[in-house]
Amino acid sequence: MRKFLPETIPMSSSAPDQMSAIAIEGGKGPAEALKAVQIERPRPGPGQILIQVRAAGINRPDILQRLGAYPPPAGAPDTMGLEVAGEVVEAAGRWKVGDRVCALLGGGGYAEYAVCDARHALPIPQGLDFIQAAGLPETVFTVYANVFEHGGLKAGETLMVHGATSGIGVTAIQMGKAAGAKVIATARGAAKAASAKALGADIAVDATAEDFAQVARAEGGCDVILDMVGGDYFAKDLDAINTGGRIVFIASQGGGEVTLPIWRVMMKRAVITGSTLRPRDADEKARLAEVIERVVWPWIAAGKVRPPVDATFPLAEAAKAHAHLEGGTHVGKIVLTA
Ligand SMILES: NC(=O)c1ccc[n+]([C@@H]2O[C@H](COP(=O)([O-])OP(=O)(O)OC[C@H]3O[C@@H](n4cnc5c(N)ncnc54)[C@H](OP(=O)(O)O)[C@@H]3O)[C@@H](O)[C@H]2O)c1
Repeated sequence: MRKFLPETIPMSSSAPDQMSAIAIEGGKGPAEALKAVQIERPRPGPGQILIQVRAAGINRPDILQRLGAYPPPAGAPDTMGLEVAGEVVEAAGRWKVGDRVCALLGGGGYAEYAVCDARHALPIPQGLDFIQAAGLPETVFTVYANVFEHGGLKAGETLMVHGATSGIGVTAIQMGKAAGAKVIATARGAAKAASAKALGADIAVDATAEDFAQVARAEGGCDVILDMVGGDYFAKDLDAINTGGRIVFIASQGGGEVTLPIWRVMMKRAVITGSTLRPRDADEKARLAEVIERVVWPWIAAGKVRPPVDATFPLAEAAKAHAHLEGGTHVGKIVLTA
C-alpha cells in the first residue's frame, strides 16, 4: 500500500488567491509603463517555496526589462524583480513556514508573493532587516560569480571596480575588501568617489577628472577589473591590468563594441571574460547559492559586507523607484517595501 508521510504532502497556505504586483503596461517612461495591478498569486511547483514578500530589490536590469531590452528567460514570470526578502508561507527543501529568507528570482519580485526554487533562497543574515536583505541576492551572486569565480580574485591582489557606487559596485568594494584584496574604485564625480572611499575602497578615482589607468599603474596595477562600462574604458583597462590579470565584463553601458589590440592581450597574458546571471540554469544558481552561503554569509555576519540602502519606496510606487535609479544620484541599493 502507498504510504504518504505528512511532510511530503504539499501544504496549501492561507495566502490569498489574488495579489498586488507591478506590471509593465504602456509606454517606456517609468510612470507610464509601471502600473499596480491585481493578478493571480503564483503557485509553487515541486521544489519551490512561496515567499510573502516584505521587500524587493531594484536592479538596473529591471530598467532594461521595462524598456523591452531584457526579456525574462523562458519560464520566468513577466513581472520584474530579481530579488526579494520575506517569510516562507509554503515550504519546500530545507525551509519551513515562517522562515525569514532572501532569494534570487528569475523575475516576479515586485509583488506581494513570489515563488522560487528552494535552493535559491538563503537565510536572512543575523542583524539584517528585510530591506537590507532584499538588496543582497542579485548583487552578491553577480559579484561572487564574476569577481571570485571568473576573475579568480585572491587575497593580496588588487581589484578595480568601475561604477563603484552602483548596487553592484558597493557590494564589490566590500566583498573585495572582505577577501583581503586592495580595492581601487572608479565613479563619475568627486562626491561619488568620496562615497566609494567611505565604503571601504583603498583608492577612489573620479573618472571624470583623472585617468584611472594612470592611478592604477601608480598603485602597482590591477589583477582583476570588474567592468560594467566597456566602451572607452576598455583601452584603459588594458593599461591598468597587470600581467596575468583578468578583466570581467558584466555590462557595456558605455559601449558594447571595442577595439581589441591582440598583441597587448598576449603580452599581458590577460584574460577578458564576462557573464550574465539571470539566464544561468537552476542547478548552477543553486551551486552559487551554496558557495555564497559558505563564503559570503560569514562576511555579512562579521559586518564586513553590508551594502548601503540608498532609498526605499512602497511597492505601489515602483515607478518613482525606477525614476530614482535612472536619476543616477543613488549610492547603493534602492528597495521596494511590500
Ligand atoms: N551581468 C550580470 O549578471 C549583471 C547582473 C546585475 C547587474 N548587472 C549590470 O551591472 C550594472 C550595475 O547594476 P546596478 O543594478 O548596480 O545599477 P546602478 O546602481 O543603476 O548603477 C549603474 C552604474 O553604472 C555606471 N555607469 C553607467 N553608465 C556609465 C558610463 N557610460 N560610464 C561610466 N559609468 C557608467 C554608473 O556610474 P556613475 O554612478 O559613476 O554615473 C552607475 O554607478 C548594470 O549595468 C547592470 O545591468 C549585470
